[in-house]
Order: sequence, then structure tokens, then C-alpha cells
Amino acid sequence: MSLMIPYENLKTLNKPFEEKLKNKFSDFLDKGWYILGEEVAAFEQEFSDYHGEKYTVGVANGLDALILSLKCCDFKKGTEVIVPSNTYIATILAIIHCDLVPVLVEPDSRTYNIDPLKIKQAITKNTVAIMVVHLYGQCCEMSPILEIANQNGLKVIEDCAQAHGARYQNKLAGTFGDFGAFSFYPTKNLGALGDAGAVICKSETDYLKIKQLRNYGSEKKYHNGVVGYNSRLDELQASFLRIKLPYLNEINQHKRKLADIYFTHLNASFIKPKLDTDFYNVYHIYNILHPERDKLKQYLADHHIATEIHYPIAPQNQVAMENYLTGQHYPISTEIHKTTLSLPCSFAHTEENILEVTRIMNQFSG
Ligand SMILES: Cc1ncc(COP(=O)(O)O)c(C=O)c1O
Repeated sequence: MSLMIPYENLKTLNKPFEEKLKNKFSDFLDKGWYILGEEVAAFEQEFSDYHGEKYTVGVANGLDALILSLKCCDFKKGTEVIVPSNTYIATILAIIHCDLVPVLVEPDSRTYNIDPLKIKQAITKNTVAIMVVHLYGQCCEMSPILEIANQNGLKVIEDCAQAHGARYQNKLAGTFGDFGAFSFYPTKNLGALGDAGAVICKSETDYLKIKQLRNYGSEKKYHNGVVGYNSRLDELQASFLRIKLPYLNEINQHKRKLADIYFTHLNASFIKPKLDTDFYNVYHIYNILHPERDKLKQYLADHHIATEIHYPIAPQNQVAMENYLTGQHYPISTEIHKTTLSLPCSFAHTEENILEVTRIMNQFSG
């Protein structure tokens, strides 16, 4: 019986960093400083440097990175934020938690990312922002999106949870908009060993405000200037992220090499992600579309290959969204939800693993 090829294995993923992580934890225990210390400040600086930006604020997770970005803008209650209809639910939750109205816009069926032409059609006098999501590791088409935002005086918030190190026209995800919101959930291309997140801000004013918001609205201990939250990046997670950040490009290159194998070897019955020289995709997720997706998933499981679906239920079909996303139809995103399958493509996989996946997949007769 052949060995299982997992979709992801966090233990294997972090094995190359094990010694450094253990030493870091030991230093951390010796130091006895747990919240907002040198490690968070150093990670913020290093994450800014990686992006060629000035201002990063470490926060508790990716959802909070989105919420604090929106809160920072002080949008009027009930105003509208444009968001892709096929995103992960967190992006939409952030909008709802800020008492704003999510306006879902369909993606391009080949890039899976929000369609700039459809953004234009969705703008009303109540629109205040566009929340783009660089889904699966590929940047959105930022030039037309920024143009639309500028023409209409809209803020741009980038959800970069799946796009660490991804580029569009050679510019990094998170550096286009007013805010770049990141998640360092353990499976992300840059993953912590627990929850963690960050916001890259374009302006110093926003940077200072998000720093305040993440820490009870406090600029100075026991002085609360705004109604804030507790959403601090953990000192220990920051120290782990500092170990892994220098390897982010290597992790991305590895995933791109695995993606190349899929592109080269998978037969034409599987619809593969669109390739375009403007985009440097970091394949947080390598997905294909197939009309018999569920049968294919089961077939692969029978052959000891684990896969995932991102995502099995569209946001408008989630029970939690009953009072928020009613009466709208999103045929493109519905089709993606029905046919998408995410294949193993992690830093922990070998080229041999992926060749084996393609070999088995090409024998699928449907
Ligand atoms: C697109 C997207 N946005 C936001 C988030 C939320 O990140 P977190 O789980 O760190 O809160 C995720 C997490 O998976 C995500 O994929």
C-alpha cells in the first residue's frame, strides 16, 4: 500500500526550523517579556523592510488585521464595501463587524480574483472602500482597481492572507492599497505557530491609529484616546515569524516549482490556474477545476492523496449570512465553489510527491 500524501503537514513544514524555534523559545523563557516587546517591534520592522514599506503593525490574526484597517477609516455606519463573492468568509465578517454593508462582486472565472469591470458597476453613492482579496496566492489586477478607487475616492484594503510575497507587475501584495492585511495562520506561506497577523499602512497617521486600536486605544499606558481592542501580535509568535521570514522567498519558490509540475504534467481535463507574466503567483493554494470534483476528490482519497476544497460553501449560502447576503445570485462564484479542488502544494511536499499526484490524477476517468 502506498503512503498517504497529506494535503498539509505542519510538523514536517516546521521541521527545518525546529532547532531555531526551540532556541528562540528558550531565550523567550529566560527573558520573561511576553507582550509587545522587542520581538514584535523587530518583526514589524523586518516585515516592513521585506515590503520596502515604512509602517507595519503586528496584530492578533488576519481577521483583526481587516477589522482594524476598516475601523481606522471611521466609515459611516451602513456604508458599502466592495468585496469578492468567492472570498473566504473572514473578509466579509470583517465588514459586518464594522457595521458596514458587504457588496459582493463576482470574480473573473479564470483568475478567481475580483473582476475590475464588475467593481465599476457595483459602485453607488454609498460605496466607501474596495476590499480586494489576493486569492490562492495570486494578486488581483491592481492597476485598473487603483484607477477606479482613485476616480471614486475609495479606500483600498488588500486582504493578503493568502499572498505573502506575491507580486503584480513586480510590486508586492500589501503595498498597493491604503492597508495590506496579513494573516500568519500556521498554514499560510509565512505561518506562525499559532494565530498572528499584521497590517501594512501607507500613512503614518493610520499606522499610529492602528497601533492604538490594537492595544485598548492606548498610546500611553492607562491613557485611552480611542475605543480600542485587545489585538496584539504575541511576542512569542513574532519571534517565530522572525525566524521564518528570511525563508519566505525560498518557501514561495518551492511552491512555484511544485505548481510547475502540475502545469507540465496534468492533462487537459483539469482546468489549471491562468498564467500571465504580470503575476508572480505564490500558490498558497494550487487549485484545479473539474466538473466531477467530488468524484475526483474521493478517487484521490482512495489512492491515498488528500485534497481540500476552498471553499465548499459560498458565502451567500452560509447560515450566518442569512440576514446579510440575501436575494443575490453569483453564478461565477457558485460554479467555482462547485468545481474547485485544491491539490497538495506545500513546502513540506517533494517534487516526487507531486509527480505521483499527477500520475494518479491523469488516470482518473470520471
Ligand atoms: C482570505 C483570507 N482572509 C482572512 C483570513 C483570516 O485570517 P485569520 O485566520 O488569521 O484570522 C483568512 C484565513 O484563512 C483568509 O484566507
